[in-house]
Amino acid sequence: MCMKKVITGIKPTGTIHVGNYAGAIKPALQFLESDEYTPLYFIANMHALNTVTDAELLRKQTLEIAATWLALGLNPTQSLFYCQSDIPELFELNWILANLTPKGLMNRAHAYKALVDKNTTMGLHRDDGVNMGLFNYPILMSADILLFDADLVPVGKDQIQHIEIARDLAQTFNQKYGETFASPEGYIEKDVAILPGLDGRKMSKSYNNVIPLFSEAAQLNKLIKQVKTDSSLPHEAKDPNTSPLFTLYQAFAKDDEVLNMREHFRNGIGWGAVKDAVFEVMNRELTIPREQFQNLVSKPKEIEDILQDGATKARMIAKEKLIQIKERVGLLHI
Ligand code: TRP
Repeated sequence: MCMKKVITGIKPTGTIHVGNYAGAIKPALQFLESDEYTPLYFIANMHALNTVTDAELLRKQTLEIAATWLALGLNPTQSLFYCQSDIPELFELNWILANLTPKGLMNRAHAYKALVDKNTTMGLHRDDGVNMGLFNYPILMSADILLFDADLVPVGKDQIQHIEIARDLAQTFNQKYGETFASPEGYIEKDVAILPGLDGRKMSKSYNNVIPLFSEAAQLNKLIKQVKTDSSLPHEAKDPNTSPLFTLYQAFAKDDEVLNMREHFRNGIGWGAVKDAVFEVMNRELTIPREQFQNLVSKPKEIEDILQDGATKARMIAKEKLIQIKERVGLLHI
């Protein structure tokens, strides 16, 4: 049986919040249940080097992100779960691909282009503050995907261009050296939940409006109390479709609970009661993962063993593929 491979890279940057969970982690974990796909989930710590330059912090965030995924149900026996920096084969492929990458293509990559545009507007040199890690980012990301012949890459919209670059590079390589790489498809989950933050805008670190995923129960309750509401009084009918609290409730409640809550909104439930209900469903879903997370982060050695085990398995695939690639390119001597 030929299972398709689904790959995703998780950058270890910052505290995970409930918006990340509902919008990215939960949908990605669904692939674990599928018998059509083999999931490859890795921690993109090499990519994170571009923004995280404090060694201690990078180490901490790497362990925490691994613990987060494990606590939420990522089962390392149903998937390959590894850390990018433990797969040296990636960096050999990265270099080989770099030689097939037109510089002009990288000039148009959105993260670099956005920085150039900003510099230009500010009257700075176009490449001010640009390092080669940022410039080459899409090449390394292509290596991540192509080395494992991934078929599907679930990502946010902003990453679609990177997948196209990976497809381009795969095609260029295949044309030059013969059919070697599968052509990956980007995948954007359609009905993905975009959760509002405390101020009602999209929950995002940059808006400073997040509910950290593993907040202790009391803290979680306190934060939910801060979520913005309108000034309607208890007993006044409320519109669920414009209420941030309702969106949060919906992301964690069961279908019949959501229906009931809609009814309560129409009948004029008070905001205090809505907040209690939001806390209840969120806390219900997060209590066990929170405990597991705390338990795991207190045992970094266990996390490290899981990651090393994943890397060993991933490298078996990577090594074999790299031999084939080096053979094609003429890097094997005989
Ligand atoms: N660039 C992705 C992000 O910022 C992370 C990433 C790195 C990735 N390598 C990848 C995602 C390979 C999918 C496949 O979110």
